[in-house]
Amino acid sequence: MSIRISPSILAADFVNMERDLGRIGTADLVHVDVMDNHFVPNLTFGPQMVDRIQQVSVLPLDVHLMIDNPDRWAPGYAELGAYSVTFHAEATAEPVALARRLRSIGARAGIALKPGTPVEPYLELLGEFDQVLVMTVEPGFGGQSFMHETMPKLHLLRQELSRTGGDVWLQVDGGINEDTVGIAAEAGADTFVAGSSVFNSDRPELRISALREAAAS
Ligand code: DX5
Ligand code: ZN
Repeated sequence: MSIRISPSILAADFVNMERDLGRIGTADLVHVDVMDNHFVPNLTFGPQMVDRIQQVSVLPLDVHLMIDNPDRWAPGYAELGAYSVTFHAEATAEPVALARRLRSIGARAGIALKPGTPVEPYLELLGEFDQVLVMTVEPGFGGQSFMHETMPKLHLLRQELSRTGGDVWLQVDGGINEDTVGIAAEAGADTFVAGSSVFNSDRPELRISALREAAAS
């Protein structure tokens, strides 16, 4: 199984974004957290900033929308060239229609589940998505502790994909470091978002390779 590391620029220096993007070139993706201060109690940036990041990043953009009304806003991120656009299941009544729309624009479509959101209703819809993001903290802030109790959802997703042969990335986000990445990999994750464990370091590229090794072992 391929392993992908997606550093979250939520933990980067926002006034030195281009410099910090240049420090993670050995990663597979760059994780871009969009927060609207409604869906989560924190605010980051919107399409204008993501468009600039898209222009200067050598890595594909893995956009994570923690916003209300993704039906209205998510397609714009696909249109500006994001590689993947992930919206929250809790924020839309029409996840399949939105995923189809994102795919029709050319982006990978992702659906994210907060820690308290059950995965069962989505198991039969997995073919509609390119990636499922199992939140391993409550969305909104970096630097929180990994919630082990979310691991059964990954087991269920991996089991279902083994049964159906589906090719859907299983992503985890929150509290991922060299101690927890292996636990998530063991449970079935293949795509790992890491903010503080990558950027709270003088050598982010070393943290990226350490995460990759720990996930594979
Ligand atoms: C939190 C964000 C995460 C965040 C993870 O809601 O979705 O992407 O950056 O940060 P760490 O890795 O520090 O837990
Ligand atoms: Zn995120």
